[in-house]
Amino acid sequence: MLYEVLKPWLFSLDAERVHEEMSGLLTLAAPLPGAEAVLSLLTGESGKGLEKTVFGIKFPNPIGLAAGFDKDGKLISILPGLGFGFLEIGSVTLEPQSGNDKPRLFRLVEQGAIINRLGFNSEGARSVALRLSMNSHPSVPLGINLGLNKGTAAKDAPKKYAQTFKLLAKHGDYFVINVSSPNTPGLRDLQNSSELASILAAVQDANALKKPVLVKLSPDLADADLAACVETAAKAASGFVVSNTTIAHDGEKGGLSGLPLKARATELLTKVRAMTALPIIGVGGIATAEDAKERLAAGADLVQLYTGLIYGGPSTVKRMTRGLAAAR
Ligand SMILES: Cc1cc2nc3c(=O)[nH]c(=O)nc-3n(C[C@H](O)[C@H](O)[C@H](O)COP(=O)(O)O)c2cc1C
Repeated sequence: MLYEVLKPWLFSLDAERVHEEMSGLLTLAAPLPGAEAVLSLLTGESGKGLEKTVFGIKFPNPIGLAAGFDKDGKLISILPGLGFGFLEIGSVTLEPQSGNDKPRLFRLVEQGAIINRLGFNSEGARSVALRLSMNSHPSVPLGINLGLNKGTAAKDAPKKYAQTFKLLAKHGDYFVINVSSPNTPGLRDLQNSSELASILAAVQDANALKKPVLVKLSPDLADADLAACVETAAKAASGFVVSNTTIAHDGEKGGLSGLPLKARATELLTKVRAMTALPIIGVGGIATAEDAKERLAAGADLVQLYTGLIYGGPSTVKRMTRGLAAAR
């Protein structure tokens, strides 16, 4: 209710600034004793009976936070209070970098969408690892999404992903190799099967703790490339995240997320599901319990959202888990 009242005002302000202010408030609240419980109280009841085990990890419910919202892992102690069954932080790059010039985050309010060209603003893996080591593990499973610094040559990508992974390996329950962000030149070319095979080999070589490693795909992959990519990844990865944002739109330069991505992300999920039995996290345009149900029915083992949270507000995930529980 309160969010609906505040939304016109929030949406009149610069999108990235609102994200920073809101994250700042949550970061201040996070260390206070009982912060997660208070946030939970404010956002209502969670749906019950939705526990699920995927890649050997027990999830309290299948609805997670997608990468990009908490890039540096500052909010992991408080965000479970919104009802998430898991969190994915990142993308984290090996070295710190500030990302592209602002403005770089845009709302398309009528469409329930966002375009971003943030370009992996990241504190860097050492800093994020230090923060994670000083915090206790969040109350839900934690995924860590790995990106690549701008300007990294393709031949160095395996080594850089592996170094980033190594620094963070003990802190995450699962990891995602992000080779699908449209905002780092050349990154999506790493979905090409020989590049991807080298990246996965290097990361798995560093994977002494045997953490699940997933690959996040772009909805803009051509069918032939998709088949080769999935076949290669299935040999060395534990699953897939489907999908990242799309560049198939005629707005601002950047990746489109939210409602206009829904059909495309579902279509890609259906294709990937037909190619592999490995676990898949479905993401893209999910905003309601109905959306989550559809994506799970299309073959996702878990789902995530980002844009739906911006439009639906802090009670979104609780509404969704209640909806899923009611439909059982
Ligand atoms: C502002 C913004 C930043 C994002 N940053 C990342 C990122 O760093 N790494 C990543 O893998 N995906 C990133 N994403 C993509 C989301 O994780 C997700 O795949 C995509 O937005 C589709 O889901 P949605 O429609 O629920 O937002 C970002 C999305 C948005 C809107």
